[in-house]
Amino acid sequence: MFDTHLIRKDFPILTRTIHGKPIVYLDSTASSLKPKLVLDAIMEYYTKFSVNIFRGIYTLSEEATQKYEDARVKVAKFIGAKSENEIVFVRNATEAINLVAATWGRAHLDRESEIVSTVMEHHANIVPWQEISQKSGAKLSYAGITPDYELDIDHLEKLITSRTKLVVLTYVSNVLGTINPMKEVIRRIKSKNPKTIILIDGAQAVPHMSVDVSTFGCDFFVFSGHKMLAPTGVGVLWGKYDLLQEMPPYQTGGEMIKEVYLEKTIFKDAPHKFEAGTPHIAGTIGLGAAIDYLSTLGMDAVRKHEEEVTRYALKVLGQLKGVKIFGPERAERKGGVVAFTVLGVHPHDLAQVLDSDNICIRSGNHCAMPLHTYLKLSATARSSFYIYNTKEEVDLLAGGIEKATRLFNG
Ligand SMILES: Cc1ncc(COP(=O)(O)O)c(C=O)c1O
Repeated sequence: MFDTHLIRKDFPILTRTIHGKPIVYLDSTASSLKPKLVLDAIMEYYTKFSVNIFRGIYTLSEEATQKYEDARVKVAKFIGAKSENEIVFVRNATEAINLVAATWGRAHLDRESEIVSTVMEHHANIVPWQEISQKSGAKLSYAGITPDYELDIDHLEKLITSRTKLVVLTYVSNVLGTINPMKEVIRRIKSKNPKTIILIDGAQAVPHMSVDVSTFGCDFFVFSGHKMLAPTGVGVLWGKYDLLQEMPPYQTGGEMIKEVYLEKTIFKDAPHKFEAGTPHIAGTIGLGAAIDYLSTLGMDAVRKHEEEVTRYALKVLGQLKGVKIFGPERAERKGGVVAFTVLGVHPHDLAQVLDSDNICIRSGNHCAMPLHTYLKLSATARSSFYIYNTKEEVDLLAGGIEKATRLFNG
């Protein structure tokens, strides 16, 4: 059974107090807290077999290699990949997107090509495409959103032409929380142009709901470990195997090679040809442990809990005077993210007032400046919820917002 109070006991950081007060962590969209199981897995690597992988023909190295490769299998199963060979370990979602831009993008995009994206993307899924668009001459265009803060799928569909080589879009918005109906979106893109390659930014989806990439019909899917209970510095690129095989390497050097001669090099097959140098071994093993933890809870239960807390937050914050919420109104349509403004209180001031009570929220544009500009906003406050958050914490947030309103508006 999903018991938040038991779950909270697995997170050592939640036993901390600052100035005698507990921590109310409402910023998991930026990065999640880490459970003891993950911390133990990292410690186990460093205390029992903290050696390099693939290189050594000795037991310690074989143990470390096995754990690293086990993590690949766990990731593959967790997201419904056909095989672990479709899983490339990178630093984070940002690096996964840059990898695709620098390899697939450089090989396929030119002046005749078009890339389509949306205004609700994180900078990680905008800037690499701007760069490749400038270098290749490919046209980059963006679908808008509806007044209900949903992706304007009709607009997206209109932007797809016979020249569209690539569509890049987020599964869940890190500001609005909007969950894009991915299967429908992909079906409509492919019906306009079946050859279009589709990259999904799953950074805000994989930590929070059950994901099965094999059912989407997309070509690339990216996410970060640190938002799903794992350490920072490890992320995932999933790609269809044929595409990965056909792509040139991203970085070159040790570990990604089969044979090296002074004149030429023969690379390994995917996924290893994309993992040059010593990877974040401990972090990757930690990601495997995070997946074990989430799998034990069950992703449907995780989603249900977040939906409940989000529904409660939408109700409680929505009743506060001067609070305006941005994003779909119904919790079923949203991830566990509530972005809002408070009349007369700048989001940064609000975040500071909340911090005096150890309530951690994010303020600013949340790496989605184009979305804020589109909504004619300079900044919002953002609270986000995960497996360890409770309705009582939402009440504390509401109390903090009222306190800030009194302070700034008298
Ligand atoms: C939707 C989305 N995409 C991409 C990223 C980038 O993640 P990272 O900084 O781990 O690369 C984030 C981070 O907040 C995000 O929310």
